[in-house]
Amino acid sequence: MNVVLIGFMGSGKTTIGQRLAKELKYVFIDTDAVIEKKLNMPISKIFHCFDEYFFRRLERKILIDTNPKKHFVMASGGGMPCFKNNIDIMKTKGLVVYLKVPKWRISKIDKTNRPLFKKAKVLINKRKYCYAKADIVIENYKIDTTLKKIKQTMR
Ligand code: S3P
Repeated sequence: MNVVLIGFMGSGKTTIGQRLAKELKYVFIDTDAVIEKKLNMPISKIFHCFDEYFFRRLERKILIDTNPKKHFVMASGGGMPCFKNNIDIMKTKGLVVYLKVPKWRISKIDKTNRPLFKKAKVLINKRKYCYAKADIVIENYKIDTTLKKIKQTMR
């Protein structure tokens, strides 16, 4: 069973995704990293040189093109599930896990290379309905506990 991690910036999708993929011996796909590699520029520059819509179309293409037979763990960008019907497509590809950021951690999130962080408050509110469509929701307090919960659900 594949796993698609969704959640707000800084919710731990990359950290959890890397660990989970390693433990399961699955391929790890970090959509931000795929896009950065493709364009050979950091996310902040992509947003500066192009626009958000351009970025969202790239994210959506990665999602659509990902072969569900591959055995993967995907760490998606924070806004990815909420563009068009991406969340529904995600659910056809694997188990969609929403990693919730504990509120106290939001101010501690690294803002470099996160151009949309300045709109965090508005975005969190706007996205909560979309994130809630995930198959499971986990408050990501502790890496090991989160990993255990995901693996339990996969059984
Ligand atoms: C975004 C989140 C970022 C990245 C881009 C846009 C968002 O990914 O895709 O800066 O809209 O929330 P992370 O969630 O990995 O920070």
